[in-house]
Amino acid sequence: MTAVFASLGVYMVPDFKVTPWEVTGDIDYDVLVERFGTTRIDDALLDRLSSYGDVHPLLKRGIFYSHRDFNLILDAFEKGEGFVLYTGRGPSGDTHLGHLLPWLFTKWLQDVFDVELYFQLTDDEKFLFKQDLSLNDTRRMAYENALDMAAVGFDRDKTKIILDTANIQQLYPLALKVSKKVTFSTARAVFGFDNSNNIGSIFYTAIQAAPCFLASEEKGRNVACLIPCGIDQDPHFRVTRDVAPGLGYLKPAMLHNKMFPSLNGADKMSSSDPDSTVFTTDSKKTVKSKIGKAFTGGCVSAEEQRGKGGNPEVCAIFKYQFYLFEEDDRKLDDLVSRCRSGDILCGECKKHLTEKVNLFLEQHQKRREEARAYIGDMTYCGFEW
Ligand code: TRP
Repeated sequence: MTAVFASLGVYMVPDFKVTPWEVTGDIDYDVLVERFGTTRIDDALLDRLSSYGDVHPLLKRGIFYSHRDFNLILDAFEKGEGFVLYTGRGPSGDTHLGHLLPWLFTKWLQDVFDVELYFQLTDDEKFLFKQDLSLNDTRRMAYENALDMAAVGFDRDKTKIILDTANIQQLYPLALKVSKKVTFSTARAVFGFDNSNNIGSIFYTAIQAAPCFLASEEKGRNVACLIPCGIDQDPHFRVTRDVAPGLGYLKPAMLHNKMFPSLNGADKMSSSDPDSTVFTTDSKKTVKSKIGKAFTGGCVSAEEQRGKGGNPEVCAIFKYQFYLFEEDDRKLDDLVSRCRSGDILCGECKKHLTEKVNLFLEQHQKRREEARAYIGDMTYCGFEW
């Protein structure tokens, strides 16, 4: 059992690329921790967390698996100093399940620690990095994405939505301070820029750094900031952490998740392959068809599979259960043994998952519609959409 869990994302050739704008190849998450210089979440840290209640399955299963200074956040909290959460979304299209993963986890953190959350929508980023998107497009998508974020159920009074082009007045002084400390040479080394990149994209990291320090600015004292996010976003905050002390701020802490798998068996769900991605607004029929076509660990024929069994390690359906849709370890365990023994076939597994995803989406879509009525109250400094 443990071997199956451990192997998700581990036994792979270390030939891959992970940057905030490009994730390709088979990601070796162990190698990534070394390359990025982050710290693995270990049993001691999980033990410490368990004093706050049940540890979230995404932590127990090693999906949130790496961090920077999370222990300092707990220290601050335990000393009564408090902290704020910060995460975000680059609005380049519809929200998919992979985007929801860190948000669901962030909601759990907000519930456990009862803290404020800044949620940044980077309409500027996606305008700069996606040739075919206009600012109107990214702003419209930001609104749609914000509905999904709200549908996750964050505390409305403690959650503020930042829209970069609308909140630039609040962000710009901080971004300027950050940008003055980051040389082009650093930006090029960290993000891989070359002479063909537009100059806006080179400055952009300063805009993503800014919310880390907003609470400190507002409160007039240093407030710690914790960022739960995909590990692909780490380069931004590595740069932010380097400059923070020189600006008189605390370094932001991070919790990193692995990328949510694709239905085609690849490591990361991608919006550019819509068939291998479940969007939050997909209809029941669409979900059924996408899951129906998913890559599994099954054999070519039913007879063969009854005899030889399937392989959950490579199965996209199993990964979905493991990442988001089956929180009960015993049920997951049972699924693995029934698959391996040939007792359960892929069709049945797909049907179960389809039912679960559709139930989840039905509730999500309802809350998403309800959010239209109150999302305006959650905007930072009261901007208008
Ligand atoms: N750059 C992120 C993206 O493309 C959006 C983002 C902004 C973000 N601030 C963040 C993500 C903080 C995680 C944490 O999706």
